[in-house]
Amino acid sequence: MTPYRIPFNRPGLAGNELRYIRESVESGRISGDGVFTEKCRRLLEELLEAPHVLLTTSCTTALELAALLLDLRPGDEVIMPSFTFVSTANAVVLRGARPVFVDIRPDTLNLDERLLESLVTPRTRAIMPVHYAGIGCEMDAILAVARRHGLQVVEDNAQGLFGEYQGRALGTFGSLAALSFHETKNISCGEGGALVINDARHADRAEIIREKGTNRSRMFRGLVDKYTWVDLGSSALPSDILAAFLYGQLERRAEIQARRRRIWERYAGELPEWAAALGIRLPFVPAHCRQPYHLFYLVTASLDQRTRLIAHLKQRGILAVFHYLPLHISEMGQRLGGKPGDCPVTEDLSERVLRLPFYNDLSEAEQDYVVASLRAFDG
Ligand SMILES: Cc1ncc(COP(=O)(O)O)c(C=O)c1O
Repeated sequence: MTPYRIPFNRPGLAGNELRYIRESVESGRISGDGVFTEKCRRLLEELLEAPHVLLTTSCTTALELAALLLDLRPGDEVIMPSFTFVSTANAVVLRGARPVFVDIRPDTLNLDERLLESLVTPRTRAIMPVHYAGIGCEMDAILAVARRHGLQVVEDNAQGLFGEYQGRALGTFGSLAALSFHETKNISCGEGGALVINDARHADRAEIIREKGTNRSRMFRGLVDKYTWVDLGSSALPSDILAAFLYGQLERRAEIQARRRRIWERYAGELPEWAAALGIRLPFVPAHCRQPYHLFYLVTASLDQRTRLIAHLKQRGILAVFHYLPLHISEMGQRLGGKPGDCPVTEDLSERVLRLPFYNDLSEAEQDYVVASLRAFDG
């Protein structure tokens, strides 16, 4: 049990999750690619208007499958923000390739597309934009650089399901994209993810790699009469029990999104005066981006102010958290050649970002308490 009166995140049930888990068990098959996996797959393809979606055990796994599909090799370089979760970089490093870290924009905290061109070398193979808070990166500019240099684009869309850039769903711009259904996400099954395949050339091989390097999926579709080892691969299928839970959530997406929108807008409506007085900045959403109301962050005036604010909230039983520690100056990042000063905006902002409690079942009374507690912090 959490010692916090208001935790940072709290999992909840949106509707039929438990009923569907029972149905999955009673269907006689709870391994991967069962009835509910298929329902989730079809629904996600429809919602994203994407040609192929494969459920995976996590966004991390989906990113690793993407790196395998790109055939990344030692010596290859992939440009990505340093301000991201470790999984974006690990996927590349696991193939022996090198992450090249690009700094972020101070407004959206997304990779700064103006810096991309200067980082492209003859070894660059791909760009991995991360849509921070589900707010779209500048995809027009990123795709233009990719086209000019013949690079692949893989979107880390862990936070951006239902987000849009210029009216088009995030996760449909790159040849591949990864989604997360980890418990902190809008739609969740505890641990889970999906690989979105927008370039049909990856479709057959993606299915094989996800099924331990075998053509078992083709056998299930009656295309071959026995399955065998045909390529590299791993086990990336979630159990149908997880897919059943996920489908229960996806089905209630309108209600979940409406609740999250209310929570986000209340924070955005209640905090500006308090924040301005203390030099604290609230999130920025460009007019051409539709956000999925995934998280609400503050940018404090200093690291010291953030540390004091976290302690102040903790004293009142509220857990607020920060992320990400810049990858380029992490232990591993420094072993890969990163050094302080490489990404100055990332280094500055990562010391000042603070995420407020935000989950589907956060009640109005709980949020009132968070807001009142923030207002009681005067410096
Ligand atoms: C940007 C980003 N990429 C990848 C991941 C990894 O997601 P998962 O926990 O589903 O593997 C996260 C986790 O929150 C994330 O924020």
